[in-house]
Amino acid sequence: MGQEDRYAHSLRVAETGSALARRHGLDADKARLAGLLHDLARLYAPARLIAECEARGMTIESFERAHPTLLHARLGAAIARERFGVEDPEVLSAIAKHTTGAGEMSPLDCVVYLADSLEPGRKFAERENLLQLALRDLDAAMREVLLLTLRHHARKRGSNAPPALAAARAFGVHWPEEARASAS
Ligand SMILES: [Fe+2]
Ligand SMILES: [Fe+2]
Repeated sequence: MGQEDRYAHSLRVAETGSALARRHGLDADKARLAGLLHDLARLYAPARLIAECEARGMTIESFERAHPTLLHARLGAAIARERFGVEDPEVLSAIAKHTTGAGEMSPLDCVVYLADSLEPGRKFAERENLLQLALRDLDAAMREVLLLTLRHHARKRGSNAPPALAAARAFGVHWPEEARASAS
């Protein structure tokens, strides 16, 4: 995805996120703002992601060093604050957690996470049904999307990010790799 596609994706995440927020009685403006800004650092090369995080004194976990693209979420939150003056901790949290999820997620975090996965530009068979589910039940949609995502990454790179496993645990997703990750 290039710059223009990334921008179009961000607009769709903003729209989808604000629709989900409205449906669940959350602040649609916060969801929209988080959606617009969530991928600010997505097009940075791996070396730049690491350098920019280090320059800000951010901790970089070993899994993030191995998969620097993950850093675009937390770095994106930092850039949203620095360049766009976003100080709202709920919006910054939603940006920071949009890629992997986390062991603790607010409803707004879930809305942005789900909007990122389920916006209409995403092309996978379950998308429309999962979006309908998300409009009815955020937790149920989180369980389904987390499970799909864990399976996808297990197939693609043979492992999952610790925060994604923590999210799976928090939402009660049955995932065997969880046991291994929590033991290490
Ligand atoms: Fe992203
Ligand atoms: Fe995204």
